[in-house]
Amino acid sequence: MGNWRVYVVCLYAAIGGFCFGYDTGVVSGVLTMKPFAQTMRGKEELNALEKGTITGLLLAGCFVGSLLAAPSAEMLSRKRTILLGCLVFILGAALQCGANGYAMMVTGRAVAGLGIGALSMIVPLYQSELAPKNIRGRLISLQQLMITAGLMVAFWVGAGTERIASDLSWRLPLGIQIIPAVILCLGVLFLPFSPRWLVSKGRHEEALDVLAKLHAHGNKEDAYVVSEYNDICQQVELERSVAVTSYLDLFKGTVRRRLVLGILVQVFQQFTGINSIMYYAPTIFKQAGIPENSATLIASGVQGVLNMLATIPAVLYLDRLGRRLTMITGALWMAVAMLLCGIVMAATGHVSYNSDSGANEIDMSGNKSASYFSIVMIYFFVAGFAYSWGPVGWVYPAEIYPLNIRAKGTSITTAANWLMNFVISEIVPIMLSTITWGTYIFFGCCCFVMAACVFLFFPETKGKSLEEMDAVFGGSVLAFRDIKKHANSTMPTLDASVEKQSFGDEEKH
Ligand code: BGC
Repeated sequence: MGNWRVYVVCLYAAIGGFCFGYDTGVVSGVLTMKPFAQTMRGKEELNALEKGTITGLLLAGCFVGSLLAAPSAEMLSRKRTILLGCLVFILGAALQCGANGYAMMVTGRAVAGLGIGALSMIVPLYQSELAPKNIRGRLISLQQLMITAGLMVAFWVGAGTERIASDLSWRLPLGIQIIPAVILCLGVLFLPFSPRWLVSKGRHEEALDVLAKLHAHGNKEDAYVVSEYNDICQQVELERSVAVTSYLDLFKGTVRRRLVLGILVQVFQQFTGINSIMYYAPTIFKQAGIPENSATLIASGVQGVLNMLATIPAVLYLDRLGRRLTMITGALWMAVAMLLCGIVMAATGHVSYNSDSGANEIDMSGNKSASYFSIVMIYFFVAGFAYSWGPVGWVYPAEIYPLNIRAKGTSITTAANWLMNFVISEIVPIMLSTITWGTYIFFGCCCFVMAACVFLFFPETKGKSLEEMDAVFGGSVLAFRDIKKHANSTMPTLDASVEKQSFGDEEKH
């Protein structure tokens, strides 16, 4: 099942993830370029507030963009929302590339953010609605793979243009991102509409047509296609009869449980501490004893490649391992790496107060092996994130909501991700300069808490169709109790009575 067409379509849509990764990654290099600071502010270097505003406005734009994408996804369709997000992103990228000063740059960042926010919400949702249930995790993980590819390419492009003495040094990396966005824009016109969205709009024939093309080389009588089509139709009918459509419905019955878990996945993803490494790698590697010159290159370059390569196992195995096992093992792996890093830094590093910068600094240069150990632990951490919470952070929220409310639910969970991303970007520099090694201990503890929460509360969703999620989330709140029951179950066909029961529960609440 799942002929090559569904792979091509989902990979193509994932170009949105590439833009996400590239635009969030490109700015750290650009911010340190002298010609950039000259054109922006007429000086050699931007101050912390100016840098923070350029970084933060993208995240603020993403937050708003992910929320705005919901009504568009419902009314205009998932496909057209990708197009819209892409067009807005191109406008933002063009403003950044052509910026004649600071005001135009920050405007460009905010506008690009609106586009990235929309894409980060709509691409996994679109993929989830197209994917056959047994490879849904793999197909949505393509989004994360492309995010990491974008981050990696952004770094190397920045490193390549850094030495150019003119404005080209920063205009080129900021401008290049328009290319993948244009490719996505043009190609998206040829992508199919989501069959689930089509059914919800009463366009049944077209939906059947898309399902047949995606899953059975155009054969509308194929057993899988017919059963998937019937399941979607039944679900739409059922949801109509109980009218689960407004934002308020997100707070009722099993949908409320899904909202809480969806938001938690996204919040947890950020509280793994991944962006403390992504954004502040040079500082962290300097603290771990690498001299400043080579720090950036080693920190960001090697880590970028590792981040992308270690995402590949998720694409290959997420649907076999399941979401729970992947999240639990990933969280434990990252917890161990962060704690060991923090403990070794605490035990062997020398913390002193730098009155020039007003910050505490940790120096590990006196102990080479401890310093190398910490660096290896940071790489170990990045690899742990890449195969687990990186992809599952996007997979899980996109697959858990009922159809009629999926866009709203996913937009809120995605917005939670961007909000926490912003919080992390604000608090990590403060943490690094006050509690130094305590930063790693903090994130290590967070990872342990996450592993426990997933074990206790998160039901397994692998192999279930989107229409079966009502039953999955209709069980005990203590998810581990249901695991044995679900583990060996073959995919049940849509059972109207189970559905009725779970929606009935929602009505009662
Ligand atoms: C996260 C980003 C992070 C990236 C790193 C994504 O899934 O949402 O915040 O920078 O992974 O690979």
